Amino acid sequence: MNNFTFNIPTDIRFGKDQIECLPNELSKYGNKVLLVYGGGSIKRTGLYDTVISLLDKYEVYELPGIEPNPKLTSVEEGAKICKEKGIEVILAVGGGSTIDACKHIACAACYDGPAWDLMMDRSKITKALPIAVVLTICATGSEMNSGGVITNEDTKEKLEINSPLLYPRLSICDPTYLYTLPQKQTAAGTVDILSHVLEQYFQPNDEAYITDTLSEAVMRTVIKYGKVAIDNPTDYEARSNLMWSSTVALNHLLTVGKGGGWSVHPIEHVVSAFYDITHGVGLAIITPKWMRFVLTSNTVDRFERYAKEVWGITGSDKYAIAMEGIEKTEEFFKSLGMPLTLYDAGITDDRIKEMAKEAYRTNNEFKRAYVKLSVDDIENILNMCK
Ligand code: NZQ
Ligand code: ZN
Repeated sequence: MNNFTFNIPTDIRFGKDQIECLPNELSKYGNKVLLVYGGGSIKRTGLYDTVISLLDKYEVYELPGIEPNPKLTSVEEGAKICKEKGIEVILAVGGGSTIDACKHIACAACYDGPAWDLMMDRSKITKALPIAVVLTICATGSEMNSGGVITNEDTKEKLEINSPLLYPRLSICDPTYLYTLPQKQTAAGTVDILSHVLEQYFQPNDEAYITDTLSEAVMRTVIKYGKVAIDNPTDYEARSNLMWSSTVALNHLLTVGKGGGWSVHPIEHVVSAFYDITHGVGLAIITPKWMRFVLTSNTVDRFERYAKEVWGITGSDKYAIAMEGIEKTEEFFKSLGMPLTLYDAGITDDRIKEMAKEAYRTNNEFKRAYVKLSVDDIENILNMCK
């Protein structure tokens, strides 16, 4: 195993009615709150009213309208409010998009200069407002990690901001909030969780047996419950298992002792920056194609282990077993209702060359990945996705 540090400062409150702790917990950070949320789902579900009534002793300012694939302009607007009103704590009520916007706002509010500077040079993140989260969709793990993904529409870059200062201090994770998710978002979130585990599972160092074994358990959980949550949105067992899986999948636990770059996410981020598609949809399309592309005699053992441990495939020909694991992965995405080609996701023009170049230009990940990818490799993978 590689050396590692493991230090996550997020206080997780998991389960039904945990929201009751909000007034007490927020008081640790101040009285002036910026409440940030998305396009209106929290108003439709009644969660907005609950939060507002719990915060009746607080001075609350609002930043609504955070878009899926959040934009830099929203971050700039939030930072401006924080500076003007002297905000002391930011409360994100929503999913990865809202939380990620809050992370960038939290450091931009403490910085004298353009918010995008902090994306380009992480050493400039020296201070951040505290962030609390009420999670309404399980997918990204943003509720317990230090990263946030923001799109700069002018440059068409979708990049990750990251700093230990950006861990949420508090995350309230109530699985009943997931009951109202549209089927597409449940499916996309499920794919995202699985993809986070896969990115860490397929990495050069395979001596971290405990980490890989935990990863297999999380993947089996996601596969067991993803379809159940779609077929029965109010199944608490399914929702709660998926919700905790999403947190564990990207809170650093499944990468300890390992190391290396990611492959599918950096490609997907360019696709969603160019076409504004849902992150999980892009992952469902690209993941099986990436798997087929990197399956060789060097990687077959790891794919065989994945197929056996996660999908329960048996047999004696390891290539056949590995291929069956990849096919099962794709079938699973299909069973969730995910499109499997760019065309099926509504992408009918061809900017593959441009996207491949952009992915390679903006990411060092490919050089450290499980199988190193060149710009031509990325182009080939994207061509397989057409
Ligand atoms: O905007 P509202 O109206 O709230 O609706 C949202 C949105 O349309 C809706 N929704 C959320 N909770 C709901 C609900 N609808 C009904 N009932 C509920 N309980 O779902 C839609 C998607 O929300 P969003 O926050 O965009 O989803 P997600 O959590 O999947 O976040 C995706 C973003 O996170 C980034 C992605 O690239 C994408 O920009 N990622 C962030 C990561 C991180 N911070 O660590 C890692 C990931 O790999 C990912 O890149
Ligand atoms: Zn993701």
